[in-house]
Amino acid sequence: KETEHHRVIVIGTGYGAAVAALRMAEKGIKVLMLEMGMDWPASKEHRTFSKLIFPDKRSTWLKSHSILPFANVFTFKKYTGVLDRIDTDQLKVYVGRGVGGGSLVNGGMAVVPKRAYFESIMPEINAAEMYDKYFPLANRMLKVNSISPRFFETTPYYKFARTARDQAHKAGYKTVFVPNVYDFDYMEKESRKEVYQSALNGEVVYGNNAGKQSLDKTYLAAAMKTKNVEIRPLYSVRSIHSTKTGYKLEVDNINTSGDTVFSQDFSCDFLFVCAGSMGTSELMVKAKATGTLPALNQEVGEGWGNNGNVMAGRNFIKQGTGSKQSCIPTMAIDDWDNKEHPVFAEISPMPMKMETWTSLYLAITKNPNRGKFSYNALTNKVNLKVAENFSTNAIADVKQLMDKLNNENGGTYARLLFKHGINGEICYHPLGGCVIGRATDLYGRFKGYERLYTCDGSLLPGSTGVNPFVTITAIAERNIEKIIAEDFQNY
Ligand code: FDA
Repeated sequence: KETEHHRVIVIGTGYGAAVAALRMAEKGIKVLMLEMGMDWPASKEHRTFSKLIFPDKRSTWLKSHSILPFANVFTFKKYTGVLDRIDTDQLKVYVGRGVGGGSLVNGGMAVVPKRAYFESIMPEINAAEMYDKYFPLANRMLKVNSISPRFFETTPYYKFARTARDQAHKAGYKTVFVPNVYDFDYMEKESRKEVYQSALNGEVVYGNNAGKQSLDKTYLAAAMKTKNVEIRPLYSVRSIHSTKTGYKLEVDNINTSGDTVFSQDFSCDFLFVCAGSMGTSELMVKAKATGTLPALNQEVGEGWGNNGNVMAGRNFIKQGTGSKQSCIPTMAIDDWDNKEHPVFAEISPMPMKMETWTSLYLAITKNPNRGKFSYNALTNKVNLKVAENFSTNAIADVKQLMDKLNNENGGTYARLLFKHGINGEICYHPLGGCVIGRATDLYGRFKGYERLYTCDGSLLPGSTGVNPFVTITAIAERNIEKIIAEDFQNY
């Protein structure tokens, strides 16, 4: 196929990509978005995605078995499904694939970081502007809402969270409600059986067939409405090259088995690489190492972190955690101000449709360790390397919290779920690799180039202290406003 030219190309359709595309399209700028995953349009029959406890091929990206942290007994034909796991020597990193990126698979928790922590990790960004303007804007655009305390206190579907909260309080910890993009009015209707049950009937991580306001319902829907955006699913960008006038991309159009149907070159004047922390870092590290973007600086591929993620499980919770569980988390144990062991631990559901007497937690710690992406010329692959003891201290931080919960309430580590009941290998929040102010300027413009940007999670310095998509969205809003105002004027 001939090279196809576009003024602006955005790689990816996750948070950073969607924000950039919408804001450019609103100004009349035509945008082409290339997404390696599938389009997952909602259907009236609510059959787009598979359920958590009976996943089929739609659940998983090009693997013949399911890939959750535990209970992977399901096998199927390889397919371009919605959840992917990238395994490194030390870590298992989960990412979403499809139009909407991580928003299709994530738990929807929408949390603004504590201001003091935000200021400490990104001191060069004007925090007043972020907290007065861009975080509220991101929350509005993402349709963030909160569960009503009355529903939370009375529904059987949040018994798991109430039990874990009561145990946390008994052990002297504070809990907070966590906002979400799942529509809680819809969830209340689900509980009354007035509508199709999604979160209340085992849907999350492989997609929600209703209720969740993922990017395809918010930013991307608004972007498509402008008629200035075209999205091409199943277009996987292989390489990026600088040219005299802009950029050239080598792209594979793949089928649902992952085979290349055809390859095609694209060129553009403005390129936004928004393939997520893992995808953007991979593309840019490869481009630097193979000389297709030789002027990128040494910071490309550096500063990657897992947002301090650690998972833990506790068994024999004598109050029980309920056979009915909503798949959408709404509460966290907030011990972030603990000077020695700061932890923000979300109370996660384990919706097995039977009483398991188990509490599950996704904890975020201040893990200061960072990994690095590097290119291996022999395999032509980019690998993420972290130190062997990458999560050791983070696990210790979470362990002291779990020990106290167990000591005060009874319960033991859930060793059937994870070795030692606690796991520092699992990463849901990959961040960094092209850190703002280091690999890029303070607005995501890659140093060494013009009209080359990233707007996604690769900009965050390995940590946000809370679930990251609100921060990614808010920073992307801030950056694209500046880029549109300054870079498109005379070009
Ligand atoms: P994102 O990863 O969303 O999008 C990147 C897109 O680029 C993907 O669609 C990918 O397919 C595409 N792509 C990659 N390489 C490409 C290539 N070469 N060519 C073409 N396309 C390419 N966060 C949160 O705040 N609250 C939560 O509750 C959760 N829960 C959660 C659960 C699970 C299971 C996961 C996996 C993740 C979460 N997260 C989360 C994390 C959150 O989803 C994540 O931080 C954001 O999706 C990251 O947004 P980005 O814009 O950086 O990229």
